Amino acid sequence: MFLNGLIDEVWSLIQKAGSVIYSVLHKTPLEYNTSFSRMFNASVFLKLENMQKTGSFKSRGAFFKIYSHLDEARKRGVVAASSGNHAQGVAFAASALGVKATIVMPETAPIFKINATRSYGAEVVLYGRVYDDACQKALEIMRETGAMFVHPFNDKEVIAGQGTIGLEIASQLPDVEVVVVPIGGGGLISGIGVALKKHKPGVKIVGVEPEVAAKYYESRRVGQRLVIEPKLSLADGVVTKTIGDLTWEIMNQVVDDVVKVSEDSIAQAIYLLLERSKVLAEGAGALPLAAMLEGHFNNTGKKTVLVVSGGNIDLTMLYRVVIRGLATSGRISIVRLVVPDAPGQLYRVLEVLYKYRCNIIDVKHDRFNPIIPIGHAVVDLVFEAPSGDIVRELIKEFKEMGYRVE
Ligand SMILES: Cc1ncc(COP(=O)(O)O)c(C=O)c1O
Repeated sequence: MFLNGLIDEVWSLIQKAGSVIYSVLHKTPLEYNTSFSRMFNASVFLKLENMQKTGSFKSRGAFFKIYSHLDEARKRGVVAASSGNHAQGVAFAASALGVKATIVMPETAPIFKINATRSYGAEVVLYGRVYDDACQKALEIMRETGAMFVHPFNDKEVIAGQGTIGLEIASQLPDVEVVVVPIGGGGLISGIGVALKKHKPGVKIVGVEPEVAAKYYESRRVGQRLVIEPKLSLADGVVTKTIGDLTWEIMNQVVDDVVKVSEDSIAQAIYLLLERSKVLAEGAGALPLAAMLEGHFNNTGKKTVLVVSGGNIDLTMLYRVVIRGLATSGRISIVRLVVPDAPGQLYRVLEVLYKYRCNIIDVKHDRFNPIIPIGHAVVDLVFEAPSGDIVRELIKEFKEMGYRVE
């Protein structure tokens, strides 16, 4: 079916991985989702990798890699670089297999991911701004100590470990038609793509990247692997400068389409996964739903799997995403007023909210901000209103009281 032996080699490794990883790792659920199926007029299923050990699929590839070289790993330890989930995956797999792990993480990695990595017993070294900087440092440690390097994506055994998700989808939903997968360095989509194309060549594999880190999208457009300067994204797990040469070769054979999505859509997707299906996804894990929200591909009537690749989201980030989602969906209102800095003004404002039976969630009063005209203060209000009409009434009243409303 494929032109080169690489795909067949990865396929045979995937089958091997499928026979060894379940001694330690879970087969994750594939759940039909009524709400998204209605919303998109398709049969939508969620592959819940947020329920995998360590909260993401990454422990699959890490486990199979270390397991495949166990003697060497036990002798010299392993070293890896990661912005978060791969770090936890390697730390977990190493400890499950009795191997010492050193993990280099970028200084921008979320603190809770750093702590989780340490909690699995790995030694954590913080270095650089993005994954690629940390990777250079990890290679240096490898050269100095002789530890085995566990690449997060550009490695056949790691790709094969991630490919076990494809095996599971094939057995859980044999007539699957479309599978939507986040892309970081491309290991996840390469593994899933190979497994599912072997199962059913007609299955459509769609990759998703954030607009601010669209390395595969841009590379595919020009027909060669590019190195980009990514910006920070809510989907921090997929922010890399480039995809691998190995994953590039595999992806060009198994990925049918790639799309990029905005940060707003990623936030909306995290919110909807939580609200509609009680699924906690991190930004990267929400990319497939974000792509559906932006209507990037036609899957009307099709059996579609969205790979929710991880659920390791920082709770302060989640708080902000939820507040924003509630505001976008009209469930809460956020209003900023500029009021005279005089006694009783805040009381008058709150009286109006009370009159309209609004439930206050948060109030901030600031008179020191340099952008505020002297003699004024800013009042930021977050509240639940009984209806959108009431919010409009209330804003009209604030304006009639002489307040500037934003
Ligand atoms: C939650 C999550 N989803 C997707 C990805 C992308 O995986 P890959 O780098 O194999 O493309 C990552 C990478 O770390 C991740 O952490």
